[in-house]
Amino acid sequence: MPALATIIAQASPGAVQQAKSTLSAGGLVAFPTETVYGLGADATNDSAVAKLYAAKQRPSFNPLIAHVADLAAACRLAQFDAEALELAEAFWPGPLTLVLPKLHGCPVGQLATAGLDTIAVRVPNHPVAREILAAFGKPVVAPSANRSGRVSPTSAQHVQADLAGRIALIVDGGASPLGLESTILACVGRTTLLRPGAISRATVERFLGREIDIAMAADAAAGGEGRPVAPGMLASHYAPRAALRMNAVTVAPGEALLAFGPTLPHDAGNALTILNLSGHGELVEAAANLFNYLRLLDGSGVSSIAVMPIPDEELGEAINDRLRHAAAPRHPRGSTAHGEPSTLRPGITA
Ligand code: TXA
Ligand code: MG
Repeated sequence: MPALATIIAQASPGAVQQAKSTLSAGGLVAFPTETVYGLGADATNDSAVAKLYAAKQRPSFNPLIAHVADLAAACRLAQFDAEALELAEAFWPGPLTLVLPKLHGCPVGQLATAGLDTIAVRVPNHPVAREILAAFGKPVVAPSANRSGRVSPTSAQHVQADLAGRIALIVDGGASPLGLESTILACVGRTTLLRPGAISRATVERFLGREIDIAMAADAAAGGEGRPVAPGMLASHYAPRAALRMNAVTVAPGEALLAFGPTLPHDAGNALTILNLSGHGELVEAAANLFNYLRLLDGSGVSSIAVMPIPDEELGEAINDRLRHAAAPRHPRGSTAHGEPSTLRPGITA
């Protein structure tokens, strides 16, 4: 990606306005939250979200947390059951993330939620984050503002060391007071702890008056980026009904073609429908279109989708990772890779 001149602005009303206009233009803004610095993008803009994955060099599409200004805004994204509502009222604003069923018509794109039908939502409690969210008025996805595989940043300098030249703006609001990411609870059926964080499990259990279930991958427990354990355990991944053929250089009669780049296969005329992820062969654009186009082609009723080769570099690695999962042989209904009785699919890896 071409180098950007990263601006570092001390937190001020002017910096908040700058953050707002950068987000509106699809740019990336690092800002302080009470847990760690987040790298923000307009959650409703798939191109901005694709840029965010590229800037972080995430090897796969790990779903992101949508940050909003208040509970009313969160209720426009997700479905709250009674317990989720109690938790939100008790702990928001604050370092609690709730994974909830995504509302039909939720404006947050499929790339941000990695094609899941759940969404992670949080109302942060840091004055600068709150001012930016209030000024922008739309949900902001914000993973920790580090390059993938590095530790989470708790100061503007950490962000600068990792991401200078890759993002437009860093708003410097001093050190993040908590320095530990938010606690993630899934409220999809039984309330389950997905990631321990800045609010202890004991605090949550005292509030609810009972013990809660814990779902954690071993590496998440070790405090790293963690595997997105929940996507495999709580919600079905988006995978097309149609069979998916990767690295296709020919098209069989009646297939749909998911193209990439300016040069189509010689027999592309066989395709019933063609969608091009990026006519110019740009991976960021392709990532932004991926989930939408897969869903559109699948909805056209074809039984097979031929996908042209995508270079396995930069964001292409993540695109191919998602395509491999969509192309993988299906587990019979009622079983998972772990042999547990479930209608759910195995998770993606981070
Ligand atoms: O404190 C925090 O939560 C910080 C600040 C910036 O708000 N953000 C943060 O984001 O830690 P990130 O992307 O580094 O971690 C988010 C975690 C990921 O492990 C992801 O798998 C999980 O949340 N997650 C997001 N959406 C999910 C979903 N729908 N189901 C299950 N897990 C989800
Ligand atoms: Mg992180």
